[in-house]
Amino acid sequence: MADKEEVFVGSIDQGTTSSRFLIFNKAGEPVAVHQEEFTQIYPNPGWHEHDPEGIIKSVENCIEGAIKIFEKDGHSKDSIKAIGITNQRETTVVWDTTTGEALHNAIVWTDTRTAGIARELKAQQGSDKIMNICGEPISSYPSATKLLWLLKNVEKVRKVYEAGNLAFGTIDTWLTYKLNGGPEKNVFVSDPTNASRTMFMDIRKLQYSDEMLEFLSYEFDLKKVHMPKIVRSADKEVYGKLSSGPLKGFPIMGCLGDQSAALVGQKGFEAGSAKNTYGTGCFLLYNTGDKPIISTHGLLTTVAFDFDGKPVYALEGSIAVAGSGVKFLMNNLGFSHASHKITELAESVPDNGGLVFVTAFSGLFAPYWIDDAHGTMFGITHHIERGHIARATLEAVCFQTKAILDAMQKDSGHELKELKVDGGMSNSALCMQTQADLVGIPIVRPKMRETTALGAAIAAGFASGVWKTFDELKEVNTAGQTTFEAKLDKQASAKMFKRWSKAVTMSKGWLAEE
Ligand code: G3P
Repeated sequence: MADKEEVFVGSIDQGTTSSRFLIFNKAGEPVAVHQEEFTQIYPNPGWHEHDPEGIIKSVENCIEGAIKIFEKDGHSKDSIKAIGITNQRETTVVWDTTTGEALHNAIVWTDTRTAGIARELKAQQGSDKIMNICGEPISSYPSATKLLWLLKNVEKVRKVYEAGNLAFGTIDTWLTYKLNGGPEKNVFVSDPTNASRTMFMDIRKLQYSDEMLEFLSYEFDLKKVHMPKIVRSADKEVYGKLSSGPLKGFPIMGCLGDQSAALVGQKGFEAGSAKNTYGTGCFLLYNTGDKPIISTHGLLTTVAFDFDGKPVYALEGSIAVAGSGVKFLMNNLGFSHASHKITELAESVPDNGGLVFVTAFSGLFAPYWIDDAHGTMFGITHHIERGHIARATLEAVCFQTKAILDAMQKDSGHELKELKVDGGMSNSALCMQTQADLVGIPIVRPKMRETTALGAAIAAGFASGVWKTFDELKEVNTAGQTTFEAKLDKQASAKMFKRWSKAVTMSKGWLAEE
């Protein structure tokens, strides 16, 4: 029988390819988990959508599934003190405020249909100044161009906008709105880690920027669109309560975009700490403390977390394709049905055999920001077999991480001593060893790698008083970590990276004259 005093925190982890609900104890250990994949919609090359209702359903199923396990193990759901949310960022949903119904599929962060809009915005006067306000360069990645595309191309969306009833939200907002029951309760909020991914927010003031809204208005008046109130990442009151399911009436008290959540879950609370999460994409966040650093080397400035009105910032290097590259080998090329088999394939060859795979399926993100780069393989000979392709797919993420770390050192003026890692691809020892070889610093992988979900639980745990100080979390998830030290000599590593850099240059401009 469970200890009566034991307290737990629930965590909704709504990612790009799956949703999960996890329940953590006070030691930061997951005691119950349920996961569900949902449909990925690719209507055209470069397009990527999700069904907004399908996302909600998958989250509800996960809560139900995890609670069943939790109760079967003898716990009472009353010992769950609060719920945190973490989510895929930038992905854009629009709905009608009067009905609460989504007006289109969500446009996913990886979607490149807005490259043309991004180009037009870049050509506008003043485009060189916007990084300093919102922390992000203009590209198809943030939510702004996705909202503009919906306004421009979907009649239903435009009509609701003209009637003054159009709501915009990232997935955190959509989740809290719907899980609270929709228009009736009208909980309409976003935390700064999510709002900083839209381009609409002033990164210093944590409020919507009039200048940005004006710059981005294109042919619309963005002030007519309902945007969620920006609130702290941990708060007792503002996120509302679940309106149905086994946890009906339980409070949501924390919210963090998934990459910020992973930084928190890795306990990257201090300036100078960093983590790299190899999920669907791969995202390196470097905590820069209470001041935002605006990158001059291709990185983003983002909010790491805001637990108490004193925001902490991070420099971010975003890579669009990581686990999705592995999935591509599995689903599109039929390499295998299990991701660990891709690592086994990669291990079946001693090296990449001269093959470089620029996995630019969504253009290239940081630090390159090449919208028109396409996925390209260089160095194909009769020697190349599937193992080399698998290896080159893993290596592509490691090369981009190396480029990001170089940029980060230039921006921050500091050399990182070690890099904490998590996410699906970090399970691959080969991938992590390659990473260490390329960046030349130790790669530290925790035993429990549900750090994203743990981060959201920590946010909710702070708001509900389960934890009160960062110090109380010191021992959480420290046992059993693995460290990968660089083994490859520096010259060989530099040669590999040089080849990658050449391949990046050659991957752009395909279809340019069409
Ligand atoms: O910015 C996109 C990011 O939040 C998606 O994360 O974990 O689905 O790769 P993930």
